[in-house]
Amino acid sequence: MQPQSNIANIEWRDGQPFASNFQDVYFSSDNGLLETDYVFLQGNHLAERWLDSELQTFNIAETGFGSGLNFLCAVNTWLSTSPENAKLHYMSAEKYPLSLHDISTALNLWPQLKTVSEPLLAQYKNLISGSNTISLYDNRVQLSLLIGDATACFSKVTSQVDAWFLDGFAPAKNPDMWQIELFQQMARLSNATTTFATFTSAGDVRRGLTNIGFNVRKRIGFGKKREMLVGNFVG
Ligand SMILES: C[S@@+](CC[C@H](N)C(=O)[O-])C[C@H]1O[C@@H](n2cnc3c(N)ncnc32)[C@H](O)[C@@H]1O
Repeated sequence: MQPQSNIANIEWRDGQPFASNFQDVYFSSDNGLLETDYVFLQGNHLAERWLDSELQTFNIAETGFGSGLNFLCAVNTWLSTSPENAKLHYMSAEKYPLSLHDISTALNLWPQLKTVSEPLLAQYKNLISGSNTISLYDNRVQLSLLIGDATACFSKVTSQVDAWFLDGFAPAKNPDMWQIELFQQMARLSNATTTFATFTSAGDVRRGLTNIGFNVRKRIGFGKKREMLVGNFVG
């Protein structure tokens, strides 16, 4: 994978990945799987939206692919809810990709996702910097793994986004990512049916998304987190 210097620097704390450079976790130590389902899938009402028998394609965009847990959970739900001929396009920007060894170790924590994680890992090892296309389930799922800064990556995207997964470490620990330029790219790629969900309830994020045209609501957070944000584009 290129460039090597951008590979994530991981420590293992109680068997869970921890980002040394950001001093933050990849997912909740309470239960990463339930957190993803609650914050990102339920926060965007995905299971309900995917039951639509007329659905043809659905585009998710994520900031921070990390261990791929959000992706795998989304794929799992997609396969059990969406019409069989519909296509999920999952675009995820990742500035500091995990090495194959680290992502494999992280995903070993979820044996229940093995049927999805194995085909992902088989293609992950051929990653290059820039845009990587990974196709799963006869192209019923396409992952565009964009290696680079989220704002720069999304500035090159042209397809409209149906749901945003705003991950990417806490804004206080990763202020460089949570900038107005990222929110501007989100607005450019959103329409009247676009939703977003994020684990954070930081005031700067709430105001930034509101200013750019999202209707932002607070919701009870997962585990120890008091609140999180969800919303839809109205701008
Ligand atoms: C909390 S982790 C994401 C967890 C991930 N969604 C999962 O399912 O495991 C945050 C991720 O954001 C990435 N990241 C941090 N700053 C970024 C940036 N400016 N652009 C893209 N990715 C970034 C980190 O490298 C890390 O992988």
